[in-house]
Amino acid sequence: MVKHAQLGFEGSFIFYLVLVLSFLVISTRCQDAEVMGILKIMINAPISFQWTNPDVCKWRHVTCDSSKRVTAIQIGSQNLQGSLPKELVKLTSLERFECQFNSLTGPFPYLSKSLQKLVIHDNKFSFIPNDFFKGMSHLQEVRIDDNPFSQWHIHDTLRDCVALHTFSAQSVGLVGTIPNFFGKDGPFPGLVLLALSDNFLEGALPTSLSDSSIENLLVNGQNSLSKLNGTLVVLQNMKSLRQIWANGNSFTGPIPDLSHHDQLSDVNLRDNQLTGVVPPSLISLPSLKFVNLTNNFLQGSSPIFKYGVGVDNSMDKGKNQYCTDVPGQPCSPLVNSLLSIVEPMGYPLKFAQNWQGDDPCANKWTGIICSGGNISVINFQNMGLSGTICPCFAKFTSVTKLLLANNGFIGTIPNELTSLPLLQELDVSNNHLYGKVPLFRKDVVLKLAGNPDIGKDKPTSSSFIDNGSNHNTAIIIGIVVVAVIILISGVLILVKFKRKWEHERKTQNPPVIMVPSRRYGDGTTSALLSPMGSVYQVEDHNMLISVQVLRNVTNNFSEKNILGKGGFGTVYKGELHDGTKIAVKRMQSAGLVDEKGLSEFTAEIAVLTKVRHINLVSLLGFCLDGSERLLVYEHMPQGALSKHLINWKSEGLKPLEWKTRLGIALDVARGVEYLHGLAQQIFIHRDLKPSNILLGDDMRAKVSDFGLVRLAPEGKTSFQTKLAGTFGYMAPEYAATGRLTTKVDVYSFGVILMEMITGRKALDDNQPEENVHLVTWFRKMLLNKNSFQTTIDPTIEVDAETLVNINIVAELAGHCCAREPYQRPDMSHVVNVLSPLVEVWKPSETNVDDIYGIDYDMTLPEALQRWKDFEGSSTTLELTSPSSSVLLNGNNTKSST
Ligand SMILES: *[C@@H]1O[C@H](CO)[C@@H](O)[C@H](O)[C@H]1NC(C)=O
Ligand SMILES: *[C@@H]1O[C@H](CO)[C@@H](O)[C@H](O)[C@H]1NC(C)=O
Ligand SMILES: *[C@@H]1O[C@H](CO)[C@@H](O)[C@H](O)[C@H]1NC(C)=O
Ligand SMILES: *[C@@H]1O[C@H](CO)[C@@H](O)[C@H](O)[C@H]1NC(C)=O
Ligand SMILES: *[C@@H]1O[C@H](CO)[C@@H](O)[C@H](O)[C@H]1NC(C)=O
Ligand SMILES: *[C@@H]1O[C@H](CO)[C@@H](O)[C@H](O)[C@H]1NC(C)=O
Repeated sequence: MVKHAQLGFEGSFIFYLVLVLSFLVISTRCQDAEVMGILKIMINAPISFQWTNPDVCKWRHVTCDSSKRVTAIQIGSQNLQGSLPKELVKLTSLERFECQFNSLTGPFPYLSKSLQKLVIHDNKFSFIPNDFFKGMSHLQEVRIDDNPFSQWHIHDTLRDCVALHTFSAQSVGLVGTIPNFFGKDGPFPGLVLLALSDNFLEGALPTSLSDSSIENLLVNGQNSLSKLNGTLVVLQNMKSLRQIWANGNSFTGPIPDLSHHDQLSDVNLRDNQLTGVVPPSLISLPSLKFVNLTNNFLQGSSPIFKYGVGVDNSMDKGKNQYCTDVPGQPCSPLVNSLLSIVEPMGYPLKFAQNWQGDDPCANKWTGIICSGGNISVINFQNMGLSGTICPCFAKFTSVTKLLLANNGFIGTIPNELTSLPLLQELDVSNNHLYGKVPLFRKDVVLKLAGNPDIGKDKPTSSSFIDNGSNHNTAIIIGIVVVAVIILISGVLILVKFKRKWEHERKTQNPPVIMVPSRRYGDGTTSALLSPMGSVYQVEDHNMLISVQVLRNVTNNFSEKNILGKGGFGTVYKGELHDGTKIAVKRMQSAGLVDEKGLSEFTAEIAVLTKVRHINLVSLLGFCLDGSERLLVYEHMPQGALSKHLINWKSEGLKPLEWKTRLGIALDVARGVEYLHGLAQQIFIHRDLKPSNILLGDDMRAKVSDFGLVRLAPEGKTSFQTKLAGTFGYMAPEYAATGRLTTKVDVYSFGVILMEMITGRKALDDNQPEENVHLVTWFRKMLLNKNSFQTTIDPTIEVDAETLVNINIVAELAGHCCAREPYQRPDMSHVVNVLSPLVEVWKPSETNVDDIYGIDYDMTLPEALQRWKDFEGSSTTLELTSPSSSVLLNGNNTKSST
């Protein structure tokens, strides 16, 4: 038509043009009406919308431009159900689409490229096209949060949205990494809000964020296995930040310098693995309003924030390793010096997890060996460290040996080290050091081998590639170890299958299969696959220990060393040469490797190598040798709670005071809370009871016995298992159906609280029939406030204040033992109820974390190594088992991949 017009005279051309344009306008306008008609039907538009007028521009919640094209649909918060028609894309003038807070389902349709604002959060859309954002160069605001989209990535086509100001996509099933284009030099120079919380993202914060104009960065709570990781160093250059929520991830390294962040007011970094000293620049941020640092591994002095700042840090520091519990109190000079030497190494997690308290000598810090209260040896060999060697090592004037071999140190050997007056040996072999070797005294033994560039002015790049004969031997050792482990697993599979096949003919249960599984950086792992898909992996073979050593330290498993016996086997007391006390659990071995015992053994190792908490008994090592299966724990001198609570008379003990009971309850609650959610996965203990709660000399408690622990399959909070546990403590729904949730532990905890209040056993056969079951009886008594007092353990001295306390705890116990799992509180609620009670009782609770003399973050081999170092390297340990002895030397297996 147009072609024809061009050929004809001008008037005709204009006539035709007008005709064509008006036809287009009318047809698109009609089309808008048609699309709106379909929308009206599909969302079942309520009468209140008054979507009846033939002119859609008169409809409520709909806006048109002067040419009667629909430009905005704003139907948020209208209780809408139904779905959106794919015809919406035909509204080619649409600039705003808002349907937030409804229950709309189905896929979200493509929309016109004219779109400027998209607000669809809090619906039930199942899907958004990956290339939805393609060509949307006018789009400024995107709020799509809280929709159950199936997994999707942030697609590269988002780059087309050059006008983007706000991108909020929290809890929308995003997977993959955060793309490296959010930032100043990226496509969206005007981006101020980036919210990606509660997705399944992983990997690091992209470097493009550096120097961006982003003011609100919310990336908290990723649900992927590895979460967001890496350091927070990009934040240092994000000077426009007002709000940063990075909590609930796996970020490591120190909190960066924030001294240029004048507007930053809300900082939530809790539940990560951050290390190092809280930077003064954070403490003195001028606009700071809220800060949350709980549950990291932060070190140094506990920070004190200025008045008016909401702090969730000092109340419950979680895993943080501040040198004292008193905010603002400086650390000892020794601690400060040690922190300054690990600063150039990026504050390694290994140290941050272990270095507790304000006295490195008394607390036996990893890598630090003292003599007479002065540091005599610094042994950082084989620790996978990187960074530079701090000149500040020179401050440790009492050091005789400085051992830094087999790491990844770069840079030069600082001249300052020559001033160490007592230095006898400096071992920096197998690093990546270069430069001139400073002039040490003649009698200092220098070990420099394995640094290809030492003596040269500059490092050559090839020296960073591992290429030494030491590594080759390590690889060979690694391969041998791997082979042995695979062989053992193979034999186990055979034994298991044989038994299973026999077993299966009688029962219909699916088999439990033990398989050699993926290889990790530190050697192989073996995995137990249960039918429910929970996978246990033993990742830390540094913890293998030979049966000979254990035989030696327990006096050949002497009767005299027995601490306790149970269905699982026998626990022996042992003492290392340096006096460290350990407990060795020797599993019952009924001839051949029996399956139940083996799976409990593996489960316990798998759990305990993953979880570390002050209120969980820690595993120092283990041994699997023939039919011998041994677990080595820290020794808990006061034994099980059951001894003190129920059998105190026959054990010759004093009954527990109420405040001690409260403290124990809080400790247990914290340990279980950690298992349930604060660890990286959800663990369910399944067998909480007083005999599995162990006490230290200070009567602080730790949860033990992880043989029945189940790992919740990822993304699931409830699943079915074979029944295991102890009668009297088992939640009714679990006993009846085998359905397992964290609330099963909450129930058992409630029973323990009832036992603490009443001093009675969970099942007490000495009682009349109707009172045998403690929970039933207790709940009955709880209904009657007057008679309730008679249930209180007569050994508790009850004054008015105690009574108030007991009532609170009794309510809590009843709540925990509610019949329906959803009626029971979470463990975090339990902690919140108990902690104020305990705080009242124990105002001056200092150095909670290092009360136990034992260094529970140290593996047994580390302990042995330390003892060895201390004695001098001439004494060698007799370790004859070929498979385990090679593993005792730290990370030898590292290079086996
Ligand atoms: C971060 O997680 C990814 C997996 O998502 C992993 O490959 C990478 O090694 C991790 N990085 C660090 C520094 O832990
Ligand atoms: C700290 O974090 C918790 C949970 O993440 C939150 O409930 C609390 O309000 C935060 N506290 C402050 C002061 O921001
Ligand atoms: C420890 O150091 C202090 C001061 O440097 C010194 O007085 C003391 O003798 C040292 N102790 C030992 C056992 O070397
Ligand atoms: C590895 O070492 C050998 C000598 O031991 C050398 O010839 C070779 O170039 C080295 N390879 C690399 C990648 O550095
Ligand atoms: C343990 O080993 C030491 C030295 O290696 C030896 O003297 C001691 O007798 C051994 N003890 C037992 C019970 O075997
Ligand atoms: C250790 O005990 C076993 C039997 O339990 C015995 O055969 C062995 O000789 C004992 N070893 C030592 C060194 O006493």
